[in-house]
Amino acid sequence: MRRAEASLRPTRAEILLDAIAHNLQVVRAAAPGRRVLAVVKADAYGHGVVPVARRLQAEGVDGFGVALAEEGIELREAGIDRAILVLNGINGGAHREIVAAGLTPVIYEISEASAFDVVAGGRPLDVHLKVDTGMGRLGVPLRELTGFLRELRRFPSIRIAGLMTHLSTADADPEYVAEQIAAFKRAEGLVRRFGHEPAVMHAANSAAVFRHPETHFDWVRPGLAIYGYPGSSSIDAPLRPAMRWRTEVLQLRTLQPGESAGYGRSFRAARQTRLATLPLGYGDGLLRSASNRGQVLVHGVRCSIVGNVSMDLTTVDVTDVPGVAVGDEALLLGEQDGGTLDARDLAAAAGTIPYEVLTNVSRRVPRLYLNA
Ligand SMILES: Cc1ncc(COP(=O)(O)O)c(C=O)c1O
Repeated sequence: MRRAEASLRPTRAEILLDAIAHNLQVVRAAAPGRRVLAVVKADAYGHGVVPVARRLQAEGVDGFGVALAEEGIELREAGIDRAILVLNGINGGAHREIVAAGLTPVIYEISEASAFDVVAGGRPLDVHLKVDTGMGRLGVPLRELTGFLRELRRFPSIRIAGLMTHLSTADADPEYVAEQIAAFKRAEGLVRRFGHEPAVMHAANSAAVFRHPETHFDWVRPGLAIYGYPGSSSIDAPLRPAMRWRTEVLQLRTLQPGESAGYGRSFRAARQTRLATLPLGYGDGLLRSASNRGQVLVHGVRCSIVGNVSMDLTTVDVTDVPGVAVGDEALLLGEQDGGTLDARDLAAAAGTIPYEVLTNVSRRVPRLYLNA
């Protein structure tokens, strides 16, 4: 992936590493005494995994969560030496490489336990066991746990060093969180009855970090909070968004009433309209569903995206902003002249969630790392 310090194009995502460090502190304050496993899957939610992980490591984070084996291997190759948990156990047959890289496997299928047992070659191998307590997606379903643990006896190298689950409603439904946590504790009882002694338990994503201290156990696993968002619109936490996504006005034109902009003529000027054309589009990860709905800051003023977002170009209405000139900065995410737009704003406009807005910023957009 291109990580240019300087790029030819004016579009770039500025990654504010001091904001990442600050957000880690905010998480620590919300989960005192717990270890923090920063979730850096999907290229650190689009922020760029290696520089983000290096900064988090320098700030003393306890470990990292990735989804895929290769994401963990990339971190090791970059010199990251903290614990790295392959959260989703998407191992792709790379069991030997995972163990060689010192990644911590997550298991939930006996076939995976068997494969890791072969690699362990009789020496103990620490893994985390993922239990499905109600997410209904990944993990050993609680009702199948006894059978799983019975079968696991065939693989004595495999040591359950950690027990984990994932919450489906930490941002929304406290009663369901309570049900999942009760199920998680039943799972712990079963695991211990089979003679395993998990040293750590973990369940909390970002929303649970702020909203559900009863889910904190030994480790917390925030992802979104590290990048500046609390995981629910109703949580107020002093986080700082870490991505500032900017571009510059490429061209200006004036439409007369009735004239249109862009593919399909989805915008027609109702008044004389000053349009700024920006050199980015859905090829850069600006969701096309933000067409005629999203906003961009120009001179600190929120300007509407008008017309359809195309692959490389987007048009915004700057009629009410005096003095806009070619080359002026236009901001999709971040702060500018007292105005702010963040991933929640763009997500609401595009009918999605901040996670998708951030991870969607494409590799065509250079990331510039700033100690800011
Ligand atoms: C297993 C697991 N834990 C933690 C997280 C972090 O979630 P969030 O970004 O909401 O904090 C994720 C992300 O989806 C996950 O899959």
